[in-house]
Amino acid sequence: MKVIISKTHEESSVKVAQSFTEQIKSKPDSVICFATGSTPLIVYKELVKEYENNGLDFSKIITFNLDEYYRIDPRNEQSYRSFMTTNLFHKVGIEENQINFLDGHADNAELECERYENKLSKNPINLLILGIGENGHIAFNEPGTPFEETTHQVQLTESTIKANARFFESEDEVPKSAITMGIQSIMNADKIVLLATGDKKAEAIRQMIEEEPNEECPASVLRMHPDVTIFVDEMAASKLKGN
Ligand code: GLP
Repeated sequence: MKVIISKTHEESSVKVAQSFTEQIKSKPDSVICFATGSTPLIVYKELVKEYENNGLDFSKIITFNLDEYYRIDPRNEQSYRSFMTTNLFHKVGIEENQINFLDGHADNAELECERYENKLSKNPINLLILGIGENGHIAFNEPGTPFEETTHQVQLTESTIKANARFFESEDEVPKSAITMGIQSIMNADKIVLLATGDKKAEAIRQMIEEEPNEECPASVLRMHPDVTIFVDEMAASKLKGN
């Protein structure tokens, strides 16, 4: 696991965006898995700049996303599907037929998870970006999730509902459940980058990097992956030894 500490959120984001740019340039038909949340927003802005100013070509990539609320209409502004459309897909010319997304509106969550996992097995991910929750969750894999889990439905913890309430009118509106790629589905990616910024993430980052992999800190599984780079700003790195 490589750890790259930059001064600011912006500097870390520019470096993460470079990993995407390099990946897409070296393999234009890359399979890429994106994340939502506020942390990757500057990365997506940087990718839009690459598209507009330098003609980075997104037309051949295949996309996946880590997770989606359940149940939520994909057209709902708070859905992760809408987030991606607004912040990236529409801005860089990614078409419907390139996009794979968990359907937050599917009648049967279990079948939907099977369908997605099946798609993933046919399209192995080349590059995957993660954020991290304050309790160490990755995607919506909360503490205690078995490392062998594939795509599945979860009940969100109180702390995740509270943390995500800022995107909704009120905490009551945050869906209590979600469907998410499992830890195993994430670990199957060839290359993983994780971006974390701000002091609220410092404890999760410390546990992930300094403690042995354990299911109470889902992100700690990444220490067992052969190609992971953690990009953090100084605040998120503030609890690491020597910082
Ligand atoms: C949500 C998402 C995660 C994300 C986390 C942190 O729970 N499911 O994928 O990493 O929030 O979000 P933020 O980047 O807004 O702190």
